[in-house]
Amino acid sequence: MRAIKVIEPFKVEICEVEKPKIENQDEVIIKITSGGICGSDIGIYNGTNSLATYPRIIGHEFGGIVKEIGSNVTELKIGDKVAIDPVVSCGECYACRTGRHNVCSTLEVMGVHRDGGFKEFIKVHKNNVHKFAKDFDDSLLGLVEPYTIGMQINARGEISKGDKVLIMGCGPIGLCTLQVAKKSGAEVMITDIVAERLEIAKKMGADKTILVSKEDLEGAVNGFTNNEGMPVIVDTVCSASTFEKAVKLASPAGRIVVIGLTNAPSQIAQVDITKKELTIVGSRLNCNKFDEVISGFESGELSPEILKTHSFHFTKIQDALQLIKDEPEKVIKVVLNFN
Ligand SMILES: NC(=O)c1ccc[n+]([C@@H]2O[C@H](COP(=O)([O-])OP(=O)(O)OC[C@H]3O[C@@H](n4cnc5c(N)ncnc54)[C@H](O)[C@@H]3O)[C@@H](O)[C@H]2O)c1
Ligand SMILES: [Zn+2]
Ligand SMILES: [Zn+2]
Repeated sequence: MRAIKVIEPFKVEICEVEKPKIENQDEVIIKITSGGICGSDIGIYNGTNSLATYPRIIGHEFGGIVKEIGSNVTELKIGDKVAIDPVVSCGECYACRTGRHNVCSTLEVMGVHRDGGFKEFIKVHKNNVHKFAKDFDDSLLGLVEPYTIGMQINARGEISKGDKVLIMGCGPIGLCTLQVAKKSGAEVMITDIVAERLEIAKKMGADKTILVSKEDLEGAVNGFTNNEGMPVIVDTVCSASTFEKAVKLASPAGRIVVIGLTNAPSQIAQVDITKKELTIVGSRLNCNKFDEVISGFESGELSPEILKTHSFHFTKIQDALQLIKDEPEKVIKVVLNFN
């Protein structure tokens, strides 16, 4: 079978690799139908992802159809449409014992720390497999994972009905966070520096969009909140300065969710956090969010079809990477088709 392998930075190939076989009876073999290309796949290709080693079969956003199951797998049957949670944890460390396996001390993510899902078939543990109740568009099965990031962010920010929320950045993660927040009944203002992205955010339900390169964000926040400051802020731009801005714009008793993996420190004085008693939390990957996202796809409350702006056959990975490099403003999510 074929797989997309990053041999070393800037060298990606379609390689022939061995087709998996069931060895342990808790395992499931899935025929991949679709995968989403994420910023971290690009980081592995560009050599800027410090977590990855080479060579690596990339892909952590993927889904497909169950082809084979071990004898201990009773929850799934051949032909089920599924999405795969790429998070692999130990089950024993402090984080795992307290129900937060997504930050396991020996965490591995398929497609980053170990080989991932951009290949024709994959073998995974049954616990990583989440099925759709109904038939669903094969090309969208791979988009459950980015929505689980948005759902985790919403959970960490305790976003619920009636909350006013500012999401900084309208990339795939900002958009997924937006749709989950809208599904919960929040009122959402979202920013970007690219006008086209804000148009997509409007289609996904944003209540107010701000082009920060032209409009005054602080004034807009004041207008949106009757000068109270923003109760919840999610920073998906993940720069030192947006984090600083979030602390400034948050209302007293507000919550801020950060998700960046950057090393650049921000200049934030303790007093700015203490005075307003801000809650600042990190959010990483997802903790048991697949089934809820799948329900949102099936009910139509989440719209992965809007997120998918381009698609390529997986053998055209070079063309997909070139498009992302040449026209980043036009691309929200490139979907690879493995059929
Ligand atoms: N913690 C996690 O679990 C997790 C998971 C996935 C991604 N991430 C991180 O989330 C971030 C966002 O991911 P993405 O795929 O959406 O990235 P992206 O680069 O596609 O999106 C960022 C968006 O922010 C916009 N932007 C840039 N500067 C801005 C500014 N000053 N104000 C407003 N908008 C601005 C860009 O135009 C872009 O649309 C990345 O840093 C990524 O590493 C974290
Ligand atoms: Zn991703
Ligand atoms: Zn653990």
